[in-house]
Amino acid sequence: MRSKLPDIGTNIFSVMTGMARQYDAINLAQGFPDFAVSDELVDAVHQAMQKGMNQYAPMPGIPELREALALKYRSLYGCHCHAETNITITPGATYAIYTALATIIEAGDEVIVLEPAYDSYIPNIVVQGGIPVCVPLIAPTFAIDWQKVNEAITSRTKAIIMNTPHNPGGYVWTKEDMLELQKIVQRRQIYVISDEVYEHLTFDGRKHESVLAYPELYANAFVIYSFGKVFHATGWKMGYCIAPDGLSNEFRKMHQFLSFSCNTPMQYALAEYLKHPEPYLQLSDFYEAKRDFFLSLIRDLPFTIHERSGGHIFKPWDMTKSVHWGIKNLQHG
Ligand SMILES: Cc1ncc(COP(=O)(O)O)c(C=O)c1O
Repeated sequence: MRSKLPDIGTNIFSVMTGMARQYDAINLAQGFPDFAVSDELVDAVHQAMQKGMNQYAPMPGIPELREALALKYRSLYGCHCHAETNITITPGATYAIYTALATIIEAGDEVIVLEPAYDSYIPNIVVQGGIPVCVPLIAPTFAIDWQKVNEAITSRTKAIIMNTPHNPGGYVWTKEDMLELQKIVQRRQIYVISDEVYEHLTFDGRKHESVLAYPELYANAFVIYSFGKVFHATGWKMGYCIAPDGLSNEFRKMHQFLSFSCNTPMQYALAEYLKHPEPYLQLSDFYEAKRDFFLSLIRDLPFTIHERSGGHIFKPWDMTKSVHWGIKNLQHG
């Protein structure tokens, strides 16, 4: 059989997770937390199951959950997003990214990917017959080289995938970055796929810049989130996509034939849990304390800690990468 992904092997997460199991090592390969999901949320899933919420959910997600999310995003970013038309609940963010790409990409379309990038982006583009056009981020801060992004745009550019806060670099897009992207979108009607799964993981008072807060960007965007990342429940594979009416409609056409709907009791539980914003609003402080603790432990090790104006840009996941690089360099360098 001719492979549709001939150059792609088993991904690094699977390889490293397998090795971590084999050697009983700490698994730094995948970004999952080692602390518990809140008891309240777990109880809410249990209750939903006991109440019999165990059959297929509506295709875009249960209205209660979409309403709760619409409230959250209207209050956080002042955006015009409506439960009925703009929010689709998905089985995780990775699925939503795939579905957004499947919705817009035709053979030969180019998609700008800022590298290093979350590993699903490129295969997801290739499998649709698209062409990934990679633009390197500027190490060590992983800031965006806007001149290079502009140079990479051609008449075939269909979309750009952005990811802020960034995995693995920890870079948080600034207002200036958003305005640079806006200039591009004003010039060329390209789509924006905005991976914002780490929206609440900004540190040292930094604010997350969401595409939802920029109406001109949002008009062409699929904005993607993950409940797994926010509520420490990565194994639940629950996420959502927010998009303007027309795009949302096309996204749902794909979604209805991919998974149709997703986990019903978890949707009821999440709708209930989202009534209180504290758990997600306190997330920055929670992770910042962990970041500070981790930094206090590694300060005396032979690793370079990169700082930018405004503070360290370390995130739990780019610490992971830095430690990997460090170990690689110690072994090979
Ligand atoms: C940047 C980024 N996007 C998406 C995901 C996946 O989210 P989900 O587990 O909801 O598919 C991850 C997981 O590591 C990620 O780092």
